[in-house]
Amino acid sequence: MHWLMSLVIIGVLAVGLYMTNMPDSDQKWQLYGLHKSFGVLVLLLLIARVFFRFNSTLPLALKGISPVELTLSKIVIAALYLLMLIIPLSGYLMSGFGGYPISFFGITLPELITKNPSLGGVFHSMHGYAAYAIIGFIILHTAGALKHIFIDRINILRRMI
Ligand code: HEM
Repeated sequence: MHWLMSLVIIGVLAVGLYMTNMPDSDQKWQLYGLHKSFGVLVLLLLIARVFFRFNSTLPLALKGISPVELTLSKIVIAALYLLMLIIPLSGYLMSGFGGYPISFFGITLPELITKNPSLGGVFHSMHGYAAYAIIGFIILHTAGALKHIFIDRINILRRMI
């Protein structure tokens, strides 16, 4: 779940940044469609992930880690969870309020929202800022993991499995 979600999220981030800077073309709108489908997939995976997390026993905290590092890692993980929810949800609401269709790999999702361009604009800004924020938290999260592997010499990858 960890590697699948990180792969999909990084892919959706890269496509999101790329597609918005493309000139108007069929390929651009195809990428928008793919971005939305994989973005909705992140939301579905997040629901499954939260379900599994609350129905499993969590491993004990790493030994030899300072309380400051433990707190920092908890803050970063909480921010990642929050952003994994806010980003796809704001994308969905931005498209819905903007009056644009949303389909999930060819299945058109029901229009649950009526058009409201000003609300669409609010979620548009939220989507962009939250996407940049998650890039920062992904970098912090990866830096923390690399520190444990290369400086503290703790095999966290084996621990994850
Ligand atoms: C984890 C999931 C997602 C991530 C990481 C993500 C990330 C991004 C990023 C980085 C951008 C470019 C922002 C900018 O440069 O201002 C973007 C744009 C966009 N996203 Fe997402 N997105 C996700 C999910 C979704 C979903 C679920 C939808 C809709 C159903 C969606 C619809 C859009 C649209 C329409 C744009 C283009 C906005 C424009 O034309 O300015 N996204 N997204």
